[in-house]
Formats: sequence, C-alpha cells, structure tokens
Amino acid sequence: MKYTRRTFLALTGASAGLGLPRRGFALGDATPLVTREASLQLLPEGYPQTRIWGYDGAIPGTEIRVPQGARVQRQLVNDLPEATSVHWHGIRIDNAMDGVSGLTQDPVPPGASFDYDFIVPDAGTYWYHAHNRSFEQVARGLRGALIVEEPQVPDVDRDEVLILDDWLINPETGQIADNFDQPMMMSHGGRTGNYVTTNGQYKLTVKARQNDRLRLRLINAANARIFALRLQGMAGWTVALDGMPLAEPQPIADTLLLGPAQRIDLFVDISAAPGETAALLNVETDEPFPQVAFAVAGQGASVSRAAPLPLPPNPRMDAPDLATAAPFKLFMSGGAMGRMDSAVLHGERKGFRQLAGAGYFWALNDVVNMPDTPLAKVSLGTHVRLSIINDTVFPHAMHLHGMHFREVTNRQTGPMRDTLLIGAGETRKIAFVADNPGKWLFHCHMLEHAVSGMTTWVEVA
Ligand code: C2O
Ligand code: CU
Repeated sequence: MKYTRRTFLALTGASAGLGLPRRGFALGDATPLVTREASLQLLPEGYPQTRIWGYDGAIPGTEIRVPQGARVQRQLVNDLPEATSVHWHGIRIDNAMDGVSGLTQDPVPPGASFDYDFIVPDAGTYWYHAHNRSFEQVARGLRGALIVEEPQVPDVDRDEVLILDDWLINPETGQIADNFDQPMMMSHGGRTGNYVTTNGQYKLTVKARQNDRLRLRLINAANARIFALRLQGMAGWTVALDGMPLAEPQPIADTLLLGPAQRIDLFVDISAAPGETAALLNVETDEPFPQVAFAVAGQGASVSRAAPLPLPPNPRMDAPDLATAAPFKLFMSGGAMGRMDSAVLHGERKGFRQLAGAGYFWALNDVVNMPDTPLAKVSLGTHVRLSIINDTVFPHAMHLHGMHFREVTNRQTGPMRDTLLIGAGETRKIAFVADNPGKWLFHCHMLEHAVSGMTTWVEVA
C-alpha cells in the first residue's frame, strides 16, 4: 500500500475510531484554497452567466471533508481584487486560526497568502466563509462546506451536503447587485436575494430510492435569509444542530427554521413511491416550491428502517453549571422602526443621524461595533450565562465564535449550538463553558447587521 496523502488522511480517521489520541499529522505542504473570480451559469440556462467570487472559483466552494480529529492545513491564496480571510464557522479552533480580519489576523491582501492549520475536535456539519467585508464577500459566493466525519459512518444510504443560499441578481445582466452597503438593507432585515439556490442550483434535484435513508446536511449560507422548510414524501429526524449531535434524534413534525449560518443534520426516510418526487419544500411564502427535489427511481430496502440511533457525542459536551455561571447581559437595539436615538461610537456618544451617516444602525449594550472592551472578559474554564434582549423589530441570528453554547429555558440547558435565531422583541438566554482561550467574536450573522453595529466579542484569558 502506498502512503499517499489520501490514505494518510483516512488513517487519521481510523485511529480516531480505535480510541487512540485524536491528533493530526503533518502532511507537508498545505493544499491551496484559492479565492478567485469566475463566471458561472448560476441562473438557469438561457440567462447570462454570473461573475462570482468563489473558493477555487467554484459555487459552492470546494468541499473540505476530513475525519474527526484530523489536522486541516490549507493555504489561502488570495486572487481577488480585495483583501480577505477565512473563518471556519463552528469549529472549536485555535484562536489564531479563527480567520477574523481585524481581530485574530490581518486581512490577506490581493496576491498574498495565509497558512491555516488547525485540528477539528468535533465531528459534524460546519462551513467556512470569508470574514473580511463578509457582507459583500459572502454575497459574492465565498463560502463552502467543512464536513468532519464521525469515526463510524452512520447507517444511511447517502450523505448529501445541501448549502442553501440566495443571490441578489439582475436577471438582465446576470450580475450580482453591487449595492452591498445599501442603508435600506442594513437597517431592515439585511440583504435577501431574488434567486434561491441549493449548492448553486435553483430547485436542485437529486436521485433517491423508496425507503432510502439519507443524511441531509443543511447549511444556511445566505447573508440574511431565514429558510423555512417542510418535508414532503419523506419522514425524518433532526440528529444534529450546528454540527453538534443531539442526545436523541428528534422526529420532525413541523416546519424547520434555519437562520443564517445555522446547520441542521437530518436523517430522512424516503416514503414517496418510484416515479414520485419527495422534497424539502421551501414554505417561506404562500407559494411553496421544492428547495430540493428527490426524484424517486426504484426501491432501496423493501421496508423503511427502525428509528435511527443518535450520532456519537463529541468531546467536551458538558453542560454549564447555571448556579455558578457568571451572568452577563446583551441589549440589542436600533434598526428601522427602532428606538435608538443615540449610541456610543469609538468612545463618543453620537446621535442617530450621525450614526446613520456613518453606516451604523444598530447597537449592542448601547455601543456600535467592536468596542475596545469585550462584552465579557472571563478566565479560562468560567461558566458564563448571557441574557440577550432583542429590543428591535427584526429577528437576529447571534453567533459565538470558538465555543458552542446552550440555550437556557426554564433553568434547563438545551442542545449545543453556535448560532441562535432570536425573534423580534424576544429575550433569550444562553450559557456556555468558556473553555477555549482567545478573543472570540459574537455577532449577528445577518451580515448587514454585523457590519452596521451588531458585532462584539468575548475574551477568554
Ligand atoms: Cu460565520 Cu463571524 O461568522
Ligand atoms: Cu441581526
């Protein structure tokens, strides 16, 4: 057997399965990940091509798939006209590799490169995306899936990565609208597209057989869109949220809501008969359409399987101790129809007009974007609880870098997540164990909100 890079990676996975220490191996030169412009047929045939920015020039960006515990080495080569960096969303990563321009690294200028090198401790569905001027760079296409495989493959017939996205495109020219910092988008619900895709395709169709069990890894990579999905012609369970396995698979009875940056892993059993179509229906509006269609051809097993087992737990999933947790508050204000008369920008209180003139519409604890002091500074190992008060008329998808949190309801902690969708006017509570040292961004993943005021950070030292 020849030890190519590929077999070496596979061996890393095997060792994780044998319970050997989870550690990566040096693989020599890092594989390049090139950010570049490309023209693709994103709109249906007959429409013009679209100029996008993609990882390796592709939509979706190159899928990175590694075994749990592996070492990921990627050299970002920036072939774009502007500086960029890569954030590995949801990975409990070494802070220096978190990819946040202006906080954990300098943005990588055009023509330059940066070596990302980190271990992935948790199995699950993650993604990576640009983290410099993300509101523009993600909207132009800079995002891809990062899949970390469990040591034992779960009992499914197929594993489908489904990146849900939307694009704001002028259908005449085929080009992405370049009004990225339009005040109207920033101060309202963010940039929502007029063209909805999965893996870069409108109404993506995949093949399936009756009684197949599929693992669907849904990733919402849109700037601001909240996807609402229903199952048709299949029954299913939610088995993981934001990469982290649920203790018990949850049968899906209702509409699934997926906020920006959130992931849901489903196991679905196809019940539709051969010749029929099953679907993940997009039910955001009164006119549902198949976000993903499953064309059923033939029969797999003769009967459907028994309910699935949970995915194996990840390491470090201990729930925080609410009784001793250090309490913090986050008050979200601003936006259209909001009540933000003034807020503090760079240490000075400014009126609404001045803030709006400078492109700021939101505040966190009365401060606009990236205060010099973090929202919370805690020592390593501290248990933290945080009340989040959304005093705006818009939903927000709050994302914590570097650590997963649990929502607290009725003094009980829920499943681990890295992004929480908070409805207009809601107060929600989260708690987490601050077990990863560094400076971690905490921001709304509606990327227009993040840049116009809704970004802060947490320091674990
Ligand atoms: Cu996926 Cu700071 O973001
Ligand atoms: Cu928001």
